Amino acid sequence: MLPLFLFTFVALVAGYVVRDGNDCHLYPEESLPGAGPMDDVPSIYEAFSQCGHSGRVIFEEGTFHVNQVLNTTGLKDCDVILKGELLFSADIPYWLANSLWVVYQNQHTAWLFGGENVRFIGQGGSFNGNGQAWYTQNQNRANQPGRPIAITFYNSKNLVVDGLSFIQPQFWVTLIWESEDVTMRNIYVSAHSDDHNGCVNTDGGNTWNSRRVTFENWFVRNGDDCIAVKGNSSDIYVRNVTCVSGNGMTIGSVGEYPKFPDYVENVLFEDITIRDTMQAAYIKTWQGQPADHSGNGAGGGGGAGIVRNVTFRNFDVENSALPIQISQCIYTEDGQNCDSSRMQISEITWENFKGTSRYNIASSIHCAAGHPCPDIYFKNVDIKSINETRGLPLTHTDLRYEVYQCANIVNQNTTSGIKCNLWAPNNFSQLVHRNVASHGYRETDSPRKRAKFALRVFHKVADVVQEVKHMLIAPFIRT
Ligand SMILES: *[C@@H]1O[C@H](CO)[C@@H](O)[C@H](O)[C@H]1NC(C)=O
Ligand SMILES: *[C@@H]1O[C@H](CO)[C@@H](O)[C@H](O)[C@H]1NC(C)=O
Ligand SMILES: *[C@@H]1O[C@H](CO)[C@@H](O)[C@H](O)[C@H]1NC(C)=O
Ligand SMILES: *[C@@H]1O[C@H](CO)[C@@H](O)[C@H](O)[C@H]1NC(C)=O
Ligand SMILES: *[C@@H]1O[C@H](CO)[C@@H](O)[C@H](O)[C@H]1NC(C)=O
Ligand SMILES: *[C@@H]1O[C@H](CO)[C@@H](O)[C@H](O)[C@H]1NC(C)=O
Ligand SMILES: *[C@@H]1O[C@H](CO)[C@@H](O)[C@H](O)[C@H]1NC(C)=O
Repeated sequence: MLPLFLFTFVALVAGYVVRDGNDCHLYPEESLPGAGPMDDVPSIYEAFSQCGHSGRVIFEEGTFHVNQVLNTTGLKDCDVILKGELLFSADIPYWLANSLWVVYQNQHTAWLFGGENVRFIGQGGSFNGNGQAWYTQNQNRANQPGRPIAITFYNSKNLVVDGLSFIQPQFWVTLIWESEDVTMRNIYVSAHSDDHNGCVNTDGGNTWNSRRVTFENWFVRNGDDCIAVKGNSSDIYVRNVTCVSGNGMTIGSVGEYPKFPDYVENVLFEDITIRDTMQAAYIKTWQGQPADHSGNGAGGGGGAGIVRNVTFRNFDVENSALPIQISQCIYTEDGQNCDSSRMQISEITWENFKGTSRYNIASSIHCAAGHPCPDIYFKNVDIKSINETRGLPLTHTDLRYEVYQCANIVNQNTTSGIKCNLWAPNNFSQLVHRNVASHGYRETDSPRKRAKFALRVFHKVADVVQEVKHMLIAPFIRT
């Protein structure tokens, strides 16, 4: 409830903005008696237009209904303070038709935010994306155009984002795009699906075409990458982040567009806690040839570029399915395309990297045969399968050691420090669901795959029978 004396102010200004010098206080419509259909977007725009330059925009306590896209770019010397909750509507047709385009991968955003010397500070404030509606609608498909990123920080310089919570994000939580000198700290993310659909694509942090970005003190429980450093990102520092149940720390995916090379350089992840994830620390590039891939926006592949000087250090990992991975064909299982990836990966270190894997595999590194990776190092990497640490058996495997798969790593058997004990197949998927055996890894024994395998065996047997028949009858048909 607003104090009564404010009502006169409120009546005098557009929307529910109360101006006090350079401060614009925003009150949610629902806090006023007799409010009509609620949409706080007009008053939010009003506050930013009055106080977005050399001022403060203060979202007071209560729930703000965000029923339309927000574009608040070009701010200058501005503090935004969020005390209340931003509740994004679940009107999926509206968002699919109106979310703002962010160019990258044909993605879109609900809020495009940016400026110079700007701070976005949460004082108990949160974003609620009404994500369950999206998880149910999306049915585990990847990267649905129009499904909006909660907030995109665009064209920003000297931006600090501090103390925000993101509950049930619609899609990716944040993207930092064409920005520099950005710090995001004390961020809490929680995405969870209550039905049989997962919450895919609820990435915590993403960077694209940005430099000098720091992420620190994050907690992320989600269904995708925890923090993903994407194309053209350099000098990125990630510290003290806990990642639960998603895909861990990521470089990529990169190499998607043949006409736009990706450069990723100087990235440090440190003091990271990983729990119950698919990967813990991995690098993913597209394959060498462009291909349609309905599972990831418009598809891609064939992009060139480099990933150089990345360190993952001080990782405490528990129950990660494939803790360490480099894949150069992350969206296909076609080995040849994988080996022809045009991305060059070099100078990558995993250091003080300890804990447990869900299966018997600690790492799978397959660099493209056309671009073997130099300067790949493991220093003090110690991963054991969780069953081994608990004295439980390992199922579906004849191997009694932790697997470190390697392929096309320069000096892999000399200076890399990796205990390479199995060939890394060039068709490894990003999802792992069982232990690796000495004959390699089969993703699933789906009925289709079993049928294909049975057919191969049948042909093989038929060949052998044919050969034996020949051997047997050959002596008799000599003329
Ligand atoms: C956002 O607003 C700015 C300034 O009004 C405008 O130039 C820009 O085109 C808008 N961006 C989008 C994606 O609508
Ligand atoms: C690490 O981040 C968490 C929030 O996720 C915070 O509570 C904790 O104080 C931070 N620790 C350090 C050493 O910065
Ligand atoms: C990355 O930067 C390079 C060089 O500045 C540029 O040519 C390329 O188009 C950028 N890539 C993307 C994906 O924007
Ligand atoms: C590698 O990146 C780190 C930051 O993570 C930076 O301090 C260092 O100077 C870089 N080294 C090279 C050789 O570029
Ligand atoms: C771990 O042990 C449990 C209990 O014996 C078994 O059901 C499970 O399949 C094992 N997991 C792996 C990955 O081997
Ligand atoms: C590394 O060693 C393994 C086993 O000793 C061997 O099979 C493999 O060819 C070697 N790889 C390289 C690149 O030297
Ligand atoms: C990868 O290739 C190997 C060897 O050619 C094959 O046995 C395996 O089934 C393939 N894996 C997938 C996931 O297709």
